[in-house]
Amino acid sequence: MKSATNVATEPLHDLEEWDEFLAGRYKQGKSEAEFRQYDAVATPGVAEFYRLNHKFQTVDYVLGKEKEYFGLNKGEKSIWEAAEFLNTLVDDSDPDTDLTQIEHLLQTSEAIRKDGHLKWFVLAGFIHDLGKVLCLWGEPQWGVVGDTFPVGCAYSDQIVFPEYFRANPDFDVPEYQTKYGIYEPNCGLSNVHMSFGHDGYIGEVMKNYLPEEALYMLRYHSFYSAHRHDAYRHLMSKHDIEMFEWVNKFNPYDLYSKGHVKPDVAAIKPYYDDLFAEFFPAKIAW
Ligand SMILES: [Fe+2]
Ligand SMILES: [Fe+2]
Repeated sequence: MKSATNVATEPLHDLEEWDEFLAGRYKQGKSEAEFRQYDAVATPGVAEFYRLNHKFQTVDYVLGKEKEYFGLNKGEKSIWEAAEFLNTLVDDSDPDTDLTQIEHLLQTSEAIRKDGHLKWFVLAGFIHDLGKVLCLWGEPQWGVVGDTFPVGCAYSDQIVFPEYFRANPDFDVPEYQTKYGIYEPNCGLSNVHMSFGHDGYIGEVMKNYLPEEALYMLRYHSFYSAHRHDAYRHLMSKHDIEMFEWVNKFNPYDLYSKGHVKPDVAAIKPYYDDLFAEFFPAKIAW
């Protein structure tokens, strides 16, 4: 079955292609110079994806999408319903070797559980990519996945393919191209508008239900220039920097827990039923 995101105009074969790019880029033990090289030889689909992402994620675009989605007016769903909905985001590749979206989520959360982390951390593992349902509401790939970055201030050269920002209309707005742009020094990330995507959206959906550490993991898990390269410290508060320890703890599970062994969903479902019941009402707003 072809999904709405797999139309000819979308550069990635599926959203996993971006996750696989990241896992390759940040392969354990790789030097900074090596991932520059890796980026240069990245699949053309990924490069084209970043070209679109960097060109179209403007301040105006972000403010418009925040208005459209952060009011959570897309209806109510349980966590399983949202996961099943995300599962309908399928591509036309081999169904025997590919994992479903739910299986991907469970691989992340089960790796966290095996390491003995607290329940909210396991939960963050399961839900961190549920925001990809944005694709099913017609959002383009470049507006759902990809590294996130602040808009309205100078772009860090630690963002992958920084040269593509030259085509962004904000590049020609002097106010947006100073170090601090529209922000105050160390104003805190809660005052910063990030490029729109599945991270910020799932953070909004979950903000009344999960501890702050988990919300940082959700909101900033694709903010690679900050959590991997220490960029944008001049916008972060002391509290942000403390909380980023949790983002860093989460990142290896996101990048490296995906294998090709299918989790036994039926066997572990009761654990997750209890986990969801502990943190959420039957349905929440999306
Ligand atoms: Fe993600
Ligand atoms: Fe992920």
